[in-house]
Amino acid sequence: MGAALPNEATDLIDGLYAGDELTRKELVRLLKLRSKETMAYAAQKADEVRRRIYGTDVYVRGLIEFSSYCKNDCYYCGIRKSNNNADRYRLSKEEILSCCENGYELGYRTFVLQGGEDPYYTDDKICDIVSDIHKLYPDCAITLSIGEKSYESYKRYYDAGARRFLLRHETADNEHYAKLHPESMSPDNRKRCLFDLKEIGYQVGSGFMVGSPYQTSDNLVSDLRFLQELKPDMIGIGPYINHKDTPFAGEKNGTLELTLRLVAVLRLMFPYALIPATTALGTISPNGRELGLKCGANVVMPNLSPVETRKKYDLYENKICTGEEAAECRNCLERRVEFAGYRIVTDIGDVKKHA
Ligand code: SAM
Ligand code: FES
Repeated sequence: MGAALPNEATDLIDGLYAGDELTRKELVRLLKLRSKETMAYAAQKADEVRRRIYGTDVYVRGLIEFSSYCKNDCYYCGIRKSNNNADRYRLSKEEILSCCENGYELGYRTFVLQGGEDPYYTDDKICDIVSDIHKLYPDCAITLSIGEKSYESYKRYYDAGARRFLLRHETADNEHYAKLHPESMSPDNRKRCLFDLKEIGYQVGSGFMVGSPYQTSDNLVSDLRFLQELKPDMIGIGPYINHKDTPFAGEKNGTLELTLRLVAVLRLMFPYALIPATTALGTISPNGRELGLKCGANVVMPNLSPVETRKKYDLYENKICTGEEAAECRNCLERRVEFAGYRIVTDIGDVKKHA
C-alpha cells in the first residue's frame, strides 16, 4: 500500500495514531487528502485502535423514536415545526414500554428514547417513563435524546434513572450554526447543555452532520476541536441528507467518502469513544454502516419504534428501516455486522475508560 500513498498522508495518520495533537492546518489538510489509498490507510489504523480497545464487539442501542412533534425549526430537519406536510405522532408510555419489552427479548440492553423537542412530554411525564423503564429493566441503560433543557430538568431525568444523553452539537462554528438554524436557537445554549449533562454525571454523546449546507473543512476541524474540549463518551456523525419540505430542499447530500474519513479520524483521535455506524450512513449507501464499522465505528442503533410510526419520523429522505419489524432489523444488522468482520454482543455497552 505504501508505494502509492503520499508520505504526507501517512505522517498525518501515523501522528494521530500515536496520539499526537495535529495543528488546525494539518487536520484541514488531512480532510482534504482524498485518495483511496489515504482512506484505506486511515481505515486500517482506525480499525487497529478499535480492535485494541473494543475487540470485535459491536454494541447495540435499541432506538425508540417516541415523538415527531418538534418546537424547533432547524432548516435541515424534516420534522421541523414549520413543515406542515409532516405527519405527526406521539407514543404513549405503554407503547414505549412495549418497545422496550420487544427490545429486551431481542437482547438489547440499552434503550434510546429520541424525539423532537415536544413540550407535551413534560418533565413529569419523562421522569415517569424513565423510572418505569428503570424499574422494569434494571440491567439496562436508559439514554435520552430529547434536546435542549435546563440543568434542573436534566438532573430530574438523571435522578429518575437516565444515565446517557445524546445531543449533537451540530456544528461548533457560530457562523455556520446561524446558517443552519433560526435566530431563536443558540449554539451557546446547546454547548451549555452538553457541559451541564457532563457535570450531572451522564455519559454524553455529541456529534455533527457531515456535508451540511455551507460546511467547510475548517468548520469540521472546529467540530473536532470542540469534541476534544468536551471529551464525550459517544460521538455520532452521519451525512447530511436532504429533505424536500425544508428550506434546504435541493441542497446536496453529504458524501459517504467524507463521512467515513471522519469516522476513521474520530476513532484515531478518540480511541475509547463509542461511535455508531449511523442510520444516515446506511441511507446514503447500502453498505454504509458496514463500511463505518470497518473505519472504527463500534455501535449500531436498530430501530425499535412501532412499524406504523416509523415513516413519520421523517428527518430526511429515503431513511432506511422504516418498513421492518424490530426483529427484522435485529437479524439484518447481525448479518451486516458479521459480514463486516465483527460481532454484536448482548451487553449494556458502557464506554471503556483509560486505565
Ligand atoms: N430533538 C433531539 C435533538 O435535537 O437532539 C433529537 C432528535 S434530532 C431530529 C436528531 C438528529 O437528527 C439531529 O441531531 C441531527 O443531527 C439529525 N438530523 C436532522 N435532520 C437531518 C438531516 N436532514 N440529515 C441528517 N441528519 C439529520
Ligand atoms: Fe433495519 Fe437492516 S437494520 S432493516
